[in-house]
Parts: sequence; C-alpha cells; structure tokens
Amino acid sequence: MVKRYKSGGSQPVLPSEITPESVYRDRRRFMQAALSVAALPVVGFSSLAEAAGYDIPADLPRYKGPDWLQPKLAEASRNAELSTRETLAPYYNVITHNNFYEFGTDKRDPVRNAQEFKTDPWTVEISGEVAKPGNYHLEDILAPHALEDRVYRLRCVEAWSMVIPWLGFPLADLIKRFEPTSKAKYVQFTTLLDKEQMPGQRGFFSTIKWPYVEGLRMDEAMHPLTLMAVGLYGNALPPQNGAPLRLVVPWKYGFKSIKSIVRIHFSETMPATSWNMTAPDEYGFYANVNPEVDHPRWSQATERRLPSSLLTPNIIDTLPFNGYADQVAHLYKGMDLTQWF
Ligand code: MTE
Repeated sequence: MVKRYKSGGSQPVLPSEITPESVYRDRRRFMQAALSVAALPVVGFSSLAEAAGYDIPADLPRYKGPDWLQPKLAEASRNAELSTRETLAPYYNVITHNNFYEFGTDKRDPVRNAQEFKTDPWTVEISGEVAKPGNYHLEDILAPHALEDRVYRLRCVEAWSMVIPWLGFPLADLIKRFEPTSKAKYVQFTTLLDKEQMPGQRGFFSTIKWPYVEGLRMDEAMHPLTLMAVGLYGNALPPQNGAPLRLVVPWKYGFKSIKSIVRIHFSETMPATSWNMTAPDEYGFYANVNPEVDHPRWSQATERRLPSSLLTPNIIDTLPFNGYADQVAHLYKGMDLTQWF
C-alpha cells in the first residue's frame, strides 16, 4: 500500500478543505436554527480565539466558560513540538459534528441538546490506588497547571477525522499530584451520570450502560501526548465537546477520549470500558488507531477528513497510531495488535 503521508509529518492542504460557498450558506442556516431553538447561553465574544490567531466567523458562538478559567485560557501557549501543522477543521465543524451519546446519537444532537448543560461548579472524584484520594473542585484541579494549545488529529472509529486545536495540560502532571501507589496499573475515567440533563441516558433502548466509562494503562496515561482538555480554538470547551473536562488521547480511536469527567479511579486490574462492554468483538480496551486491523463491519485503512462533502469526500490514508507511531509504538512492543485491538 502506498502511503501519501509520513508518520508524524505534515500534509498538503487539499482543495476540498476550502469551504465552498454553498456549504457556508448551509452552515449559516443551520446555526441560525440552532441558535433559535437552543438559545445558546453563550457567550460574549471573547477575544481569546483572536489572540490565539484563530479565524472564527463572527456569527458562531464562543464558549466563554467560568470567569475563573479566563486567565488560564488567555495565558495558554502553543506547544509547537507536539502540534501537527495540518489544516484545522473549521470551528463550525468541531462544535456541530459530535459524538456524545448522552445527548443523542445523531451527530447534531449534542449541539442541539447540550446547551443548558451545567458545567460550573464541577467536582472530580479521585479514588482507588492513590495517596491523596478525595473530591476536588475543578478550579483546584486546574490551579497549578498552565494550559497548552496543542493541535492534534482526532480519528473516530467510524472512519472520519478532524484536526483540532485543544487547550489542556498533560494528564501525567495531574496524576503525579495525587501520588498513585505501586498498585496503580490502570486509570479509569467516568462521565457524569445525570438523566435530568442528559436525554440520551433516559433512553430505554440505549445500547450503552451509563455512565460512560473509559480507561488507560498507566504508561499510556503518563505519556506526554495524553491531554486533559478544558478548551478548544482558544475558548472554553463547548458542552457538546465534553465541557468542562475531557480526555484527549490522539493515537487512539476517538471513543477513548471520554468527555465531561467526574471521576478518575486508579486500579490494579484493567477497568471496564463502555464500548468494549457494549460490543467486545468490535471495540477493544486499547483501541489504537490501526489501518491494518479492520472493524468487523468496515475498513479502517482510510478516513474521511472533515470537512468533506459528496463532491469532495477528502479521503486520506489512515496512519498507524494516527500518525503518532514514532512517539507511542514502543508502548506496545511485543504485543500482537490484532489480538489487543
Ligand atoms: N464521551 C462520552 N462521555 N460519551 C460519548 O458518547 N463519544 C466518543 C468520545 N467521547 C463519547 C465520548 C467518541 S465516539 C468520539 S469520536 C469523541 O468523543 C468525539 O469527540 P468530539 O465530539 O469532541 O469530536
């Protein structure tokens, strides 16, 4: 198979990445509709995105987040070494094409249904094999951490992808503060369980057993690429993207990057994870992006890089470990990745 892009390298701008006028007009119509039904509680137009050099159309909402977060967002600096130089997905695509089953299964359900989601105040429970367990306010969790702006590829297991500028800090720095014991071999993350606020959790026929849970091996969690994100595109995380705190693990399929985290638990044994419990033959614990191992129902050899359209589908080859093989392949040395998918 001929690969067009080298692992970790940048790729050329494709003509299809330039938004055609018709798509732009459709986008305006959608956002007007979304704004009128959801009454977005936004937003004030923050200058943070502009300060970060991002070109966000003026008619799209910015998610300001709590006042206490503003200085942190404003002081975030770009980590160029760990950022790809590929073309960013437009802000519009990042905030309107989402997987967040707690708010519905359609890609546009999260932006429609998550706007009233309360994300401040927010508490995170730290539990299990750590010296300092407890319930911590998000503000205290974030206090010692400077935010970085990192541009990562996000590759969904459904074979679409986007390039997103996140604001966050290394999970490793957070973990060290709670002093894991020698028994801490895995980390499990849990999303909020709240049927009142999350319509997807009320569904009788839901395939997922709530709350959504995900996990990492300790060395994966401590890897410098593994990010706790609180913002994107220079602003706070929108609720549909997992406000106020989410995980971003760029070399794994997107479902590992769990949203709206309320619990971080350290354990000796491999924790349960939502998609693995739902369909163990289709979704493994590791879920490393791997073009050589197909999903039982579709190929993983290529991906649709968003934005894409019928006329310009923008299909590119999928790279091992989503293009981060140089940094992470050693974590899986000696493992048969067709077995540990
Ligand atoms: N986290 C929770 N709690 N619930 C979800 O449904 N979907 C996952 C992941 N995190 C999901 C989640 C999937 S399948 C993907 S591809 C990414 O979130 C999508 O992130 P985005 O909507 O910010 O692009």
